[in-house]
Amino acid sequence: MKSEKDIDLSKLSFETKRDINFYIKEKFKDSSKFTQSQISNIENVAKSLEEGYPRDYLIGNSEFYGRKYFVDQRVLIPRPETEVLVDTIKSLNLSDGSILCDLGTGSGCIGISLAMLNESFIVFGVDISEEAILVARKNDLTYMKKNFFLIQSNWASCFQENSIDCIISNPPYIDKDDSHLADLKHEPLLALVSELHGLEAFEIISQQAKQLLKKDGLLLLEHGFDQSEHVEKIIYKNDLKLIRKIKDLSGNDRVILAQK
Ligand SMILES: C[S@@+](CC[C@H](N)C(=O)[O-])C[C@H]1O[C@@H](n2cnc3c(N)ncnc32)[C@H](O)[C@@H]1O
Repeated sequence: MKSEKDIDLSKLSFETKRDINFYIKEKFKDSSKFTQSQISNIENVAKSLEEGYPRDYLIGNSEFYGRKYFVDQRVLIPRPETEVLVDTIKSLNLSDGSILCDLGTGSGCIGISLAMLNESFIVFGVDISEEAILVARKNDLTYMKKNFFLIQSNWASCFQENSIDCIISNPPYIDKDDSHLADLKHEPLLALVSELHGLEAFEIISQQAKQLLKKDGLLLLEHGFDQSEHVEKIIYKNDLKLIRKIKDLSGNDRVILAQK
């Protein structure tokens, strides 16, 4: 038997050391004794981390709004800045029985968090990707919310006119030529890239919102740090009212709240 001290971390970067310690805490009950095969596993994980493979895929879960969600390469790893969508819905005090729709649900983290805010909400988690729906289903089975429903659909095309109280979405919004994509190569392109310089999903979702939201229904969108003005124009083009812009921790407008 070997102990944590027998694993040579000296040549690893600060970030890899931090992540490998996190991995060990998550995966092993007792870090004072390791078998040789566990040591090999940890060394392989360290190598993958050094090569830029995301820690949360290696651990197999990610934290969002204080809860753990299963993640793998079929879905985007939830980002902390996306939690502001849930905070915003919480602050709006929507009526009991409201129908909410999380478009592009991925792991299901937004939709399930919304379903937990109020048992009387009816929340739909929608994704076009069958693979993402399978991951979201796994998370749905963990939390077993009776008011959360998964649907495979191209955005909200499966809903009827004037039927939804609130559409929430963190859609793909990166331009296909954006150099940042090189750092995100392990996550699904479908979750990251949108046509029309990253704006196509906003165009489609805003058009659908105009049709599918009930009177005074709300649309809440996360967007890129430099897309606020573009998304605002799309909102006005679709005859929606701008209610509020919300900043991220770096002071950039990152979320837009609009109303039918
Ligand atoms: C940025 S990810 C967001 C995932 C998750 N909601 C989150 O915030 O972590 C965008 C999601 O939109 C989905 N998506 C892309 N195109 C779509 C479409 N046409 N209709 C529905 N979902 C789509 C992707 O599969 C992906 O899961």
